[in-house]
Amino acid sequence: MPSPSRVYSGIQPTAVMTIGNYFGAVRNWVQLQDERECVYCVVDLHAMTAPYEATELRQAAREMFVSLLAAGIDPDRTTVYIQSTVPEQTELCWMLATLTSLGDLSRMTQFKEKSGLLKGGLGEDDGTFISAGLLFYPVLQAADILAYRAGCVPVGQDQSQHLELSRGIARRFNSRFGYLFPEPETLFTHVPKVMSTADPTRKMSKSLGPRHYIGLFEEEDSIRRKIRSAVTDSGDTPPGEVSPGIENLLTLLAACGHDDDAAQMREDYFAGTLRYVDLKGRTADALVALTGEMRDRRAEILRRETDLDGRIMAMGERARTIAGETLGRAREMVGLFPPAPASQAARHAAPRTSFSV
Ligand code: AMP
Ligand code: TRP
Repeated sequence: MPSPSRVYSGIQPTAVMTIGNYFGAVRNWVQLQDERECVYCVVDLHAMTAPYEATELRQAAREMFVSLLAAGIDPDRTTVYIQSTVPEQTELCWMLATLTSLGDLSRMTQFKEKSGLLKGGLGEDDGTFISAGLLFYPVLQAADILAYRAGCVPVGQDQSQHLELSRGIARRFNSRFGYLFPEPETLFTHVPKVMSTADPTRKMSKSLGPRHYIGLFEEEDSIRRKIRSAVTDSGDTPPGEVSPGIENLLTLLAACGHDDDAAQMREDYFAGTLRYVDLKGRTADALVALTGEMRDRRAEILRRETDLDGRIMAMGERARTIAGETLGRAREMVGLFPPAPASQAARHAAPRTSFSV
């Protein structure tokens, strides 16, 4: 049996990894590798629940895979893979769906938000297409985690409802069919929330547009430009508080490892002696140093990995070995046949038909 403390987490393939993703999640994943066995997944199947281009999805997943390696995920110690290379998870998703209540799924905040139900829309009644995939999103997430019998899932607060659902599904499976799945615990570590430098009241996100985010591999000039034009005072900050823009720059400076500088500058702010140009200069320098290092590592990986897709397949194979073992047991426990070997299936195939596209 694997240790119940195996760590598992997933990230959507968005092609660009922002410093928000890095400081808020991935850096923590990198550190966890020193303590536990870790499995990390680029969730391209989940990405299909939002509008996307089929011709771009693979490349986005590849980019995220390389970004994870460049950010410090070590493929020698950690299983890092792309979700669609492991069909066992999708299969487990089906089994788990039969143990999930429709009521629970339709009450998920993320589903309500993404389907527009919270905005007072009536969903499909007003002509909007709401895919069942969006509703199933958390079942697939539970399948991701449970296929690896992970005990520990580092995610942001926004995922706590999905994790609670995963625990409920594991519990239901175990009590109905016998013990197979540890109930995955959520690992909330303190991670900074990085805001947009152009609008520090909103979370830094790629979806807000290029002005609003800084990429982990971004070039120096453009980082300096974004920090130089970062919003500082909004004018309505109550006395005794730091304005959101300054707070965000201090957060970034501290996240880059310059905690002492950030603490000093916070004091200067309250003393009325902080020169914003100094804070911006320091923050830009720190980010440029970080992204420079990341760009070098990324270039080195791309130089070394002459067969990137081969590497992706090899990682998928490693993941399938773990997920396949879980699936084999789950199939048996729920009363299904094992999958027929493909060659045997061909031997028994009724009239041969040709398949062409
Ligand atoms: P997303 O790309 O939004 O799916 O986020 C992937 C991971 O990065 C999640 O664990 C988020 O919590 C984290 N993350 C994304 N944006 C930020 C941000 N601006 N600040 C902190 N964490 C973030
Ligand atoms: N839903 C997660 C997010 O949006 C991504 C994800 C998919 C995930 N499968 C997972 C996270 C399994 C943890 C474990 O961030």
